[in-house]
Amino acid sequence: MHVAFHLAVDLDTALQTAATTAGLADAAAFTPEVRTADPKHGDFQANGTLGYAKARKLNPRATAEQLVAALPAAVRDAYDVSIAGPGFINFTLKPAALHAWLRTFATREALATGAAAAHTGQTWVVDYSSPNTAKQMHVGHLRSAVIGEAICRLLAFTGARVIRDNHLGDWGTQFGKLIYGYKRWADPAALAADPIEELERLYKLGHAATPDDSPAIEEARRELVALQNGDPENVALWKKFSEVSLAAFQQIYDRLGIQFDCNLGESFYNDKVGRVYTELVETKIAEDSHGALVVFHDEHPRFSRHTERPNPFMVRKADGASGYASTDLATALYRTEHFQAAGIVIVTDFRQTDHFEQLFLTVKKWFAAKGYRLPELHHVTFGAVTGEDGKALKTRDGGVIKLKALLDEAEDRAHAIVTAKNAERPEAERFSDDECRTIARTVGIASVQYADLAQNRSSNYVFSWDKMLALDGNTAPYLLYAVARIYSIFRKAGVAPADLALDTTATAPETPAERMLARKLVKFPDALRVAGESLRPHFLCLYLFELAGDYSSFNSADKVLVDDPALRARRLMLCARTLVTLETGLHLLGLRTLTRM
Ligand code: ARG
Repeated sequence: MHVAFHLAVDLDTALQTAATTAGLADAAAFTPEVRTADPKHGDFQANGTLGYAKARKLNPRATAEQLVAALPAAVRDAYDVSIAGPGFINFTLKPAALHAWLRTFATREALATGAAAAHTGQTWVVDYSSPNTAKQMHVGHLRSAVIGEAICRLLAFTGARVIRDNHLGDWGTQFGKLIYGYKRWADPAALAADPIEELERLYKLGHAATPDDSPAIEEARRELVALQNGDPENVALWKKFSEVSLAAFQQIYDRLGIQFDCNLGESFYNDKVGRVYTELVETKIAEDSHGALVVFHDEHPRFSRHTERPNPFMVRKADGASGYASTDLATALYRTEHFQAAGIVIVTDFRQTDHFEQLFLTVKKWFAAKGYRLPELHHVTFGAVTGEDGKALKTRDGGVIKLKALLDEAEDRAHAIVTAKNAERPEAERFSDDECRTIARTVGIASVQYADLAQNRSSNYVFSWDKMLALDGNTAPYLLYAVARIYSIFRKAGVAPADLALDTTATAPETPAERMLARKLVKFPDALRVAGESLRPHFLCLYLFELAGDYSSFNSADKVLVDDPALRARRLMLCARTLVTLETGLHLLGLRTLTRM
């Protein structure tokens, strides 16, 4: 069945067409800007008339009237349309259209087709997590992994082919010191038991034993040069460091539901930086500065040579070595040529903002000079993780918190809550120990993920166990519980939530609580659009939280399992749609859900 104009997105198209039909001047330049409306005014609202009319010295209200008069009949069949204030156009779904929408968007697949338009046919490379090798992941590595995965899933759901690329920091001067330490003090038993822990110890020893200007640092440098020149022993060691690191990282990724398509770290671009130097020199974008190859962006106040303390982009160091800028330039080109990326997203904390601004400025000039197609470039940043005192999150004795320990603690804390709740249940309904553990694992990890995602990523994120594990509020336990409760209604009803036979007897939503819930369900594609366009998953979190709230109001106002079969079918249909929307949304955020908890 085809339901016309069911989404904010489709209203956009309809209004654009209406602009042409109405003969508006410069109709192609009119952007309707259809957004989810305040429920007081309707379901969707078009705000674009105001800016359009203002720029052309027209009366916005008159323009809105012209547009409304030119709307196709299908829109008027589906919506009550009104004009408000200076020229906002409000759309309220009529009950029959609301019902038709619910029938059409019954499954995750149907929701996906509704959302797919934005990125269909495009390849997007997402560079996230990207830790440095030979070190454990710590709490500072959490956000990039969690936010990056949610962004991958959002992009994929909106039609993109997503390449998840773990851009490991696996090349650099630290390997000289690590090899130095390894060759002297490696403990085979410790390497077998916890290899990455041992590598960290060896790096620290190597670092401490090689102070600047000592003969030992010369030795460490020789190890590095030997590695860079392909010395078989050092190359074999370095490979082993990468393998061991990746295996340890993978254990964390498994717990977070992350699977990378490639791990093209800095070392991969080692033989690809030569072309960057050549092309940047030949196009006169880079210049020599005391032997180094650098790029200034004079038009940009912060990166101009005319500032007090110039801060150029260092393409090649004075000693001829490549660096973070060199490999990132080569990476941008590789992603564009090899993956044919339409978009590149790099997820790191805000402290790398300068680097990526300079990178993108340089790439734009370089690609324009060479006639290369420029992909969309996004640096997705996030704030720091702090304790409740606002300071960097540390262990009690001031050390860094390992990510593994943090996830363990999340599961342990969730386990304590789950077992305590379980003891209060009637004997016959209690979970087994195994079930308690599975629930705790899911709830614990989901809580950590969701707490990170639910806030605007630009803010610092205050880490609070009590808040993230709370059953009330905008938390994972609250949403997972809403999901489990809907499953339990279907168990009681003796039907499967995916059983679409229900729909044939279900009538259109009628009571205020039913209608409020249905109207919220219809906004899911718009929530996805907003989260996807801004690359900010918290918009989706907020939507899911509000949906769970509307569901809970519906649940207290209207009994679902009533005797009247038509009424029961109608309410079960709303339960089924809420379930598929909540689960789809939570999975898009990277969370796992439960059928019981
Ligand atoms: N390895 C870097 C770090 O730990 C992050 C890399 C981000 N990606 C990139 N293409 N530079 O800070």
